[in-house]
Amino acid sequence: MSVFRHGFVPYRRLPPHARDLARGKAPKTLLYSSSMNDTASAATTVEPAGYVHGSLSVPGDKSISHRYALLAALADGRTTIGGYAPGADCETTLRCLHALGVGISHEPEGQVVTIEGAGLGGLRSPDGPLDCGNSGTTMRLLAGILAANDFETTLVGDSSLQRRPMRRIVDPLHRMGARIEATDGRPPLRIVGGRLHGVEFEPAVASAQVKSAVLLAGLHAEGDTWVVEPETTRDHTERALPIFGVPVLRRLGAVGVPAGRRLHPASLSVPGDFSSATYWLVAAAALPRSTIEVVGVGLNPTRTRLLDVLRTAGASVEVTETETHSGEPVGTVTVAHRELKPVTITAQDVPPLIDELPALAALAVHGGGLRVSGASELRAKETDRISVLVTGLQRLGARVDEYPDGFHVHGDTAPTGGTVDACGDHRMAMAFAVAALGATGPTDIIGHEIVDVSYPGFFEALDTLRRE
Ligand code: S3P
Repeated sequence: MSVFRHGFVPYRRLPPHARDLARGKAPKTLLYSSSMNDTASAATTVEPAGYVHGSLSVPGDKSISHRYALLAALADGRTTIGGYAPGADCETTLRCLHALGVGISHEPEGQVVTIEGAGLGGLRSPDGPLDCGNSGTTMRLLAGILAANDFETTLVGDSSLQRRPMRRIVDPLHRMGARIEATDGRPPLRIVGGRLHGVEFEPAVASAQVKSAVLLAGLHAEGDTWVVEPETTRDHTERALPIFGVPVLRRLGAVGVPAGRRLHPASLSVPGDFSSATYWLVAAAALPRSTIEVVGVGLNPTRTRLLDVLRTAGASVEVTETETHSGEPVGTVTVAHRELKPVTITAQDVPPLIDELPALAALAVHGGGLRVSGASELRAKETDRISVLVTGLQRLGARVDEYPDGFHVHGDTAPTGGTVDACGDHRMAMAFAVAALGATGPTDIIGHEIVDVSYPGFFEALDTLRRE
């Protein structure tokens, strides 16, 4: 029997159908239709801070949590995941798996998720469309799995996800033999699962989501499946597969999975999300007299390029690796402010910094400046992150220029504060909050509650770190 418990999204913020779930009514089909992103929102005010100081841990890693849940659903038996990411995106993955017949129990205490794996090819046809909410990772990775399961599914999302490009996964899955249709390259995705064969695929964009979708499909295929990466991207799928008993094939610049391996269950623990820790590390680098220590955070080298950039920007950065959780390095990062220096980011630095660029823009508002190019992929995220970032920072009084493939934050004028709209994008809300700490007046962030997508409790944590 599956028990679906919720304790991590504040009850009052849940849409009505999710409140039913919170009362213990398990979903027959996925009910989390128009996520928080499509509901009306209020503003929160962020006051300028003198400095920030403290030690904290951050919620579990979003990318790793999605992958552990999906792989656990394909395993033969019961997997336990500790420290599962508490945000709405990873909740969405659990809801989708639940609708596909996977037994899931979620104890908010310690964020422990138990998943009764259905085995490769063992998912059940859902009663209706699967709603991936705001989560591109859910839609793209799940599409790889559903392409091989013998039934028809439709994947939908909220207004942000419905605008995101899907051809990047539709094309390789087609090549593997899947029947999958998008509407003008965007969701909804209609997938008629069937037999797949292995391919060697070279994506045009460096994307861990595309790589993972193809590898997950490859688990079900006849013959080996390879992905040749244009640039290295986060490798959480490759690190997780051996823990579920699947060896990863490697040759220079390429990664693959062999055909026909059953997955065995595992006992896993998710480290803190480096991309969530980024906002505090950047805040410490930005404000004179600041020091922040983040403990228990994931230190996977495909995710930590930000630390090099912070050093280039002048900050003091100390890293101590303390342990390894399920193949992922974990440790403590301490950042302290030093005089800020200018930073330039070009195309080859973009994949390992893709989720950290909004926070780096917020850092540059405090001084030093930042020039980013070769980052047009930012326009394909939850929002057009170049446009929303530039507009928002300009509204706060910062001098910022927009380019087709990037932006330039001059960092020569202190922001005044004002009103900015997160536009339904969690990383925009958090970046604006960090920029607001160095303003001369207060900042109202409209739609601030979207932080719950990846970091419920973000504004409460900010309150504990700020000093006058
Ligand atoms: C993610 C990969 C990145 C990242 C996203 C999470 C993942 O997207 O921006 O937040 O978990 O694989 P792309 O792979 O599309 O660059």
